[in-house]
Amino acid sequence: MPTNSRPVRAPHLKEMKRRGEPIAVLTAYDAVMARLFEQSGADVILVGDSVGMAVLGYASTIPVTMAMMVHHTQAVVRGTSRALVVADMPFLAAQASLADAVLNAGRLVQEGGAAAVKIEGGQPVLAAVRRLIEVGIPVMGHLGLQPQSVNQLGGFRKQAIERTDADQLLIDAQALEAAGAFALVLESIPPEVAAAATQLLSIPTIGIGAGPWCDGQVLVGHDMLGLSVQAPPSFVRQYARLAEAIGAAAADYVSDVKGGRFPERPVAAGLARDVP
Ligand code: KIV
Repeated sequence: MPTNSRPVRAPHLKEMKRRGEPIAVLTAYDAVMARLFEQSGADVILVGDSVGMAVLGYASTIPVTMAMMVHHTQAVVRGTSRALVVADMPFLAAQASLADAVLNAGRLVQEGGAAAVKIEGGQPVLAAVRRLIEVGIPVMGHLGLQPQSVNQLGGFRKQAIERTDADQLLIDAQALEAAGAFALVLESIPPEVAAAATQLLSIPTIGIGAGPWCDGQVLVGHDMLGLSVQAPPSFVRQYARLAEAIGAAAADYVSDVKGGRFPERPVAAGLARDVP
C-alpha cells in the first residue's frame, strides 16, 4: 500500500528515475478499476487506446476514436485523486496536422481531465510533441512496437531486433527527450535495447515486454488480472484469474435463478401463497 499521498505529476517521474524508484503503471478504462489500481499504489494510470482490444471487442486499437478516449478518460479521472492520468492519443489524432494534435490533446486534458497524453511514434510526431509541450500539455512518448501501425508491421511483432532498427530507436528516443517528452514507453523490444535507452535518457523509460532494466513497467490492467478474452502476450505476468472467477460466479447465478434458489423462497407454504 502507498505511504505517499502526494499527487503524482509528470515532472515527478523524472525525480523517481533520479532516486532509482521504480515506476508502476497500469492501464484502466473505468472509474472502478482506476480507483482500485490507485489504491494499490500505482503511480500512473494510462487510459490506453488498448481499451479497443481489452474491453470494446476490436481486433486492434485502430478503430478507437477521440470520443471513446474522452469518455474513458473522464471515467478514470473520476476514479482517481493521486495517480497521474495519462490518456492515449488514438490513431491519427496527432498526425494529420499540428492544429489537430493540439485540439485533440486539448480535448483529452480539458474535457477528459487527463494530466498528460501519450503519442506513438518517433521522428514523424516530433513536431506535434514540441507543439503540445509549448501549449502546456505534457507528453509521454511511445517507441518500439506501435500497435497503431499494426497494418504496416503485419502483426504485433517484437521490434528493434536488427542493429539498424535498434540504433534508430535510440536516435528517436533521444529526439523525443530533446522535444520535451517527460517519459517514454518502450514496447516489445529486446531488453538490451531498452537498457541502452534507459541509460542514455534522463527521462524515465516505462517498459512493456522490454525486459527488467527500464525505469518503470506498464501492463494492460485486464491482462495482468487474467481478464482478457484472448491469450495475453507472453511477457505478461498474470496476478489473478478473474475471467475464470467471473465465469464461475455468473454460472452459479444462472444456475440459482433457473433452479429457483435465487431469490430464496420462504419455506412456509402459507407465506408463499400470500405473495402477490
Ligand atoms: O494502449 C496501451 O494500453 C498502451 C500500453 C500497452 C503501453 O499503449
